[in-house]
Amino acid sequence: MQNLQGRTQGKPARGNALESSVARLPPQPVPQAARRSQRGLLRGFFLASAIAVTASAAKGQLSTQDHLSEPGFWPTQEQASRAEFVGSDVCARCHAMKTATQKETPMAKNLALAQDAEVLRAHPALAFSANQFEYRIDTDQKQSTFSIAGESQRLSYPLLWAFGTGRVAQSYLFKQQDGKFYEARASYFTNLHDQDFTPARALASASSIQQAMYRPVPMDEVRRCFACHATAANVGGVFDEQHLTPGVGCEACHGPGAGHVKLMDKRAASLSGAGKSAIFNPGDLLAADAVDFCGACHGTWWDTKLSGVKGVSTARSAPYRLVTSKCWGTGDARLTCTACHDPHRQLQTDASDYDPICLSCHVSRAGEKPTSSHPGAACPKARRKCTDCHMEKVYVPEMHANFTDHRIRVAHPGEPFPE
Ligand code: HEC
Ligand code: HEC
Ligand code: HEC
Ligand code: HEC
Ligand code: HEC
Ligand code: HEC
Ligand code: HEC
Repeated sequence: MQNLQGRTQGKPARGNALESSVARLPPQPVPQAARRSQRGLLRGFFLASAIAVTASAAKGQLSTQDHLSEPGFWPTQEQASRAEFVGSDVCARCHAMKTATQKETPMAKNLALAQDAEVLRAHPALAFSANQFEYRIDTDQKQSTFSIAGESQRLSYPLLWAFGTGRVAQSYLFKQQDGKFYEARASYFTNLHDQDFTPARALASASSIQQAMYRPVPMDEVRRCFACHATAANVGGVFDEQHLTPGVGCEACHGPGAGHVKLMDKRAASLSGAGKSAIFNPGDLLAADAVDFCGACHGTWWDTKLSGVKGVSTARSAPYRLVTSKCWGTGDARLTCTACHDPHRQLQTDASDYDPICLSCHVSRAGEKPTSSHPGAACPKARRKCTDCHMEKVYVPEMHANFTDHRIRVAHPGEPFPE
């Protein structure tokens, strides 16, 4: 029943929009049935691999790689030409409200040139020591310099890119004379007000000052970092550092917009609906796909499973945790990411704001019987601020911060983190 709820929104599945004649890529019409079977094959491939499917929750979910191999737009997808992108300021001409609020979100502001990074300007002298090395980031009017000193040697490089708003952390990439990318092994952590090892890059000991200071980042990984943290970074087969737009802009989630804008500028086309179908609307997705959509960057159930991340660190992937909730069942449109989060607005931090979502499925009076429209039981303890007790904050050590566990449940004090 819940499954049907998710799949009978009466809207077309994703991809249809861009398969119209105004599609950006050479049209590749793939009938729905073929697409489904292709999807079955791909999933079969992963099922055949060594991973045991432990949760029925993964039903209907895919890895991002599998989504990207299907026709139609999907976030982080590489595009064929820069001319297809217009930039968020053009969207603002007709979607002024959405653009004004979206531009201020952490998603939109998560990447900056180091010289523009507020975190660095607010903390002009960052330092920490480990394995007899002292790490520093010193910021002056001109630039931020990352340096390391130890074993009577010193190395320093100007930082180039700052990743993350600093809500919990910020990490840095820089280049050496060889033009290649390196990741600073020290990051800024908001709760420490200072530096520590970059998550997952801590060293117990270093064999050289170079190893202590940085990690070379291969180009295919650089492309992936920017695919999630920027808009239109990878275009026409190249990583286009000069022209990318830092942060998650409109076209990172809606696909390139030139075709839509052109048609909307012609009144007839906008009335005929051609303009509408020339832009990707994630609101048309089925529930399972809608969660994977955000998972293109936040990590889908399969992405997280395949990455090998375990324990509390998985709390960083909201999609992974959410679909293992009993509430999710086999997928329900009332519990997709956008049921609780408007990606065009700031995150709501008042627990009461989420109550209507819970109560769209749970009956509210203790003792009241669940119904077909409200399949969830009533809470014997409370009638408001549900997320305070049922979406636990869990401490993720390498981030020095709490994340919200999206596995909705009765959390018993002292119990181990449920996988
Ligand atoms: C010239 C005006 C104009 C510009 C510029 C414009 N849009 Fe639109 N857009 C519209 C109109 C009109 C609609 C239809 C609104 C409706 O029917 O409610 C629309 C609808 C949409 C929809 C929903 C489509 C659907 O399936 O219902 C999305 C998503 C969208 N626009 C995104 C964007 C993005 C992203 C940009 C910038 C790349 C953009 N728009 C630029 C006029 C514009
Ligand atoms: C193109 C990549 C990308 C996609 C797609 C994406 N996100 Fe994000 N999102 C990010 C990044 C990067 C951050 C980290 C921002 C920061 O540094 O604080 C983030 C942060 C967030 C936050 C935290 C905001 C805060 O106040 O700290 C929420 C909530 C969120 N995303 C929700 C969503 C939802 C819902 C979707 C799907 C509709 C989605 N995201 C899709 C990249 C993405
Ligand atoms: C698959 C998409 C993806 C890739 C690839 C990716 N990130 Fe992120 N990154 C995210 C999302 C989504 C968030 C926000 C979720 C979160 O808070 O953990 C984030 C958050 C961050 C943060 C802020 C800390 C935090 O957890 O909010 C930093 C710093 C960061 N990323 C750096 C990087 C760097 C550097 C690379 C490449 C070496 C990279 N990321 C690759 C999606 C990605
Ligand atoms: C992180 C992903 C993300 C980003 C970035 C984003 N959107 Fe959206 N947008 C969505 C999703 C998801 C929906 C569907 C919402 C729903 O149906 O609940 C949507 C829906 C829309 C719609 C359809 C109207 C509606 O309210 O249903 C318009 C128009 C739109 N977005 C415009 C924009 C514009 C303009 C920008 C840039 C300022 C933008 N979006 C940035 C994810 C995003
Ligand atoms: C039932 C409601 C609900 C749903 C569904 C939901 N979230 Fe959340 N989310 C929350 C709450 C509550 C918070 C914590 C808000 C606060 O900080 O007070 C949160 C916080 C976040 C954050 C900030 C980092 C953190 O861990 O605190 C991100 C990122 C995020 N959600 C992404 C997502 C994504 C992606 C999805 C879809 C897979 C999703 N959420 C679905 C309720 C929800
Ligand atoms: C899509 C409908 C839906 C939504 C939305 C929903 N739930 Fe549920 N929830 C259910 C159903 C159905 C069950 C019972 C599942 C079962 O027993 O197998 C359930 C079970 C639960 C349980 C018991 C879980 C356990 O481990 O036994 C808790 C607690 C809960 N929900 C709290 C919440 C809270 C809090 C929210 C909002 C943040 C919420 N639910 C949103 C449908 C929903
Ligand atoms: C003050 C903390 C708190 C708040 C707030 C809270 N709950 Fe609970 N809830 C609990 C505890 C504790 C239990 C476990 C009770 C038990 O096992 O005796 C529980 C149990 C449940 C259950 C399981 C009931 C069953 O029969 O298995 C559901 C469903 C639930 N809550 C939903 C909600 C919803 C929906 C809200 C918001 C309207 C909410 N809760 C608010 C603490 C809370």
